[in-house]
Formats: sequence, C-alpha cells, structure tokens
Amino acid sequence: MNTKEIVKMQNEHLMPTYAPEIALVEGLGTSVWDSEGNEYLDFVSGIAVTNIGHCHPKMVQAVQDQVETLVHVSNLYYNEKQPQLAKALAEYSGLPGAKCFFCNSGAEANEGLIKLARLWGSNKGKHEIITMQQSFHGRTLATLTATGQEKVKTGFGPLPEGFTYANFNDLQSVEDAITSKTAAVLVEALQGEGGVIPADAEFMTGLRALCDEKGILLLCDEVQCGMGRTGKWFGFQNYDVQPDAFSLAKGLGNGFPIGSIVAGSTLSDVFQPGHHATTFGGTPLACSAALSVVEVIEGEELIANTMMMGACLVEGLCDVAMKHKQWIAGVRGLGLLLGLVLDVPSAPLQKKLQEKGMLALATAGNVLRLLPPLNVSQQEIDQALKLIGEACAELHDEMAAQSPNPCECGVGE
Ligand SMILES: Cc1ncc(COP(=O)(O)O)c(C=O)c1O
Repeated sequence: MNTKEIVKMQNEHLMPTYAPEIALVEGLGTSVWDSEGNEYLDFVSGIAVTNIGHCHPKMVQAVQDQVETLVHVSNLYYNEKQPQLAKALAEYSGLPGAKCFFCNSGAEANEGLIKLARLWGSNKGKHEIITMQQSFHGRTLATLTATGQEKVKTGFGPLPEGFTYANFNDLQSVEDAITSKTAAVLVEALQGEGGVIPADAEFMTGLRALCDEKGILLLCDEVQCGMGRTGKWFGFQNYDVQPDAFSLAKGLGNGFPIGSIVAGSTLSDVFQPGHHATTFGGTPLACSAALSVVEVIEGEELIANTMMMGACLVEGLCDVAMKHKQWIAGVRGLGLLLGLVLDVPSAPLQKKLQEKGMLALATAGNVLRLLPPLNVSQQEIDQALKLIGEACAELHDEMAAQSPNPCECGVGE
C-alpha cells in the first residue's frame, strides 16, 4: 500500500486519536523506512521503546524460537521465562528482596503500582497518592488522574479520588501535600512527557528521607526512563536512591508489549492470590522478548554506550544552542533521553527534521525530545547533529525573515 491508501483506510477505520504524517513500514537498527521508500534516522525509538534498535537479530531469534515453542499460557500455570526475567530485573534494580508482577503496558504497570500502594495502606487508613505537576503516568482512569496535566483529564470525570499534586523538584511542596491518609509519593526520575526535566539530586534524596520519616512509600515511574535509557539501568539509580517499588514498560520489550511492577521487600508480598491479575501478563513470548533485551543491554554494554553517546549528543547540541542562543535556551536530560529546549515552539523544528530524514519529538510545546536507541553509533550521532544544525540554521533564517522586529521572534542578531 502507498501512503495515500494507508491514510484513506486509517481515516475510515480508526478512531482519530493520533494525527500521523508518515507511514513506517520497515526498520533496522536506528533506521526506519516509510511507505514511499524514504529512510529516516530514528531518534524517537517508538518513544523510548526500541532501546536496542529495530529488529535486533538477538531479539528476532528469541521471539522466533519462542513462537515455535509456546506463545501463551495462563498465569494459572508456571512458565519458566517469567521467573528468569523477574530474577534479572530484581538483580539490576538492587532492591533487596525484589519481586515482579508482569503486565502489558506502562499504564497497566502504574495502575498496579497504585493498587499495590493502596492495599499496603488499607489497614493503616492510608490511600492517597501524591504525584507531581507535569508528570505523565498513563491513560487509564487512575493513571490519568495521577498524571499532573489537566489536558489528559478533561471530559473524563468523575475521576477516582485520592490523588493530590505537588511541584516537581520542590520538596517543601511534597511535604505540604502529605496528610495522615497519604500512602505514597509517585515520581519520575526524569519527566519525559513533561518536557525532559530530570529530578534534582537533593529532591530525590530528600523524598526518600521524607517518605521514611512519614512512614509512606516512595514509588518511581520508570516506564520511560527505565531499561538503560538514562545511562543507568533505572532512572532512580542516577540518584543513589531506592524506591519501595517501580513500574516498567516501553523499553522492557523493545516493542513487544510488556510491563512490570518491581517491588522491594516492603511490598513484594502484599499482593496475594486474588488481589491482582491479567490474562496476557508475562507470557512466555513476552518474557522471551524482554529477556533478549536484558541480555543485549548487558552483553553489548549498552549502558556504557548510552553514557558515551549521550555525552557526545549533549556536546553537539550545546554547540547548536550556543549558535542560536537568541531562541534556544539550552540542553537538558540524562543519558540518551535529551531535550533541546527552545524559546519558541518545537513543532516546526521537528517537522523540518522529518523532511530532512530524521525523526524527533516535539514535547511540552517548546522541547525537541531526542531518544535514539541505546546502541546508536558515533556516526549516527554526527549525522543527527548535522541535520539538527542545518534545520536550526534554516529555521533561524525563516524566523528572522518573518519578523519585522527580530527581537520579537528571539532571533535578533
Ligand atoms: C513515564 C510514563 N509513564 C507511563 C506511561 C504510559 O505508558 P503506556 O503508554 O505504555 O500505557 C508513559 C507513556 O508515555 C510514560 O512516559
């Protein structure tokens, strides 16, 4: 099918929840191709999903082998892949006594995390969850309520009770939000959808101390920043802090749908038979895919590559930002979850890059979010920086030409 045919059919048969522009039909490593045969440098990675690149041969092999052996069994039966994956995640998390619950998506993992915290608090009279402004936790009713952004909630009331909001990186605001009914604080170590905003070190260590002092849980949403994305296995490890539990999805299956709750000893045995379940969670196929991801991240030293390539990308982006300091505010992020922060909307830059053959995300209005796979090469980073440099230079000229008063568009020389 060509793009026109795909668009026509999609418009007829799919709910218009997204507004895509190109149709992608093939991927390999950091490259994807559209239905017209155009190649793109993929610095979106399915929004932090294809962390080991498209069609990694080890994952392809693992999925092929498992699909021929056993695809699905109910969780009423043991399946050997689940404990193998759970053991690996528990070890990398460093949480003492950690145990997992597998599900299918980020929202489902967070929904489970919220249920876990409520069940833990149920005999203590604690059920409230404090989350952060600008956070993003998913689109189910509980997780959109947990999300600190009004736009995802409008029209969906009545919303579940028991969620309050504090300011990210403002410990006092969290302390002010704590009541005798608070069960947990839920936080992203780096807010991705919120605009690529990393937590401050004092905030994370302060949160841990505050939660300990008040006898409440610290939960991390690692759906986007987990699985090596920030240059550590999990985002919270950048801060030397351990949550009581965290959620995972996205990069865990490199595109094969799988999510997980990973809970340390305080919460690892709170769910008992009958408390929580899901038909598709942790199938042999999903766990085999995720196990291959874990093995590739470890075996190909992708955490080290993330740190190295992340540093190169930051350096190059800082040069671009310096060149256009009239309208580029700077660079922020961790590892390979980076944002070029503009003083103007980021959608035109994202569009220009797409025309040039590079995929990036326009986030939170003014941030260009970059998420290449963790095995991105130096050559691909250089290519991306070249395209970003060109796109910014063109945008600069266009903005200067459009504005009678250069100061108004921020591109005055
Ligand atoms: C931090 C975070 N939590 C949760 C979610 C929801 O995950 P999913 O779309 O798999 O439900 C996302 C998705 O972008 C996310 O970034």
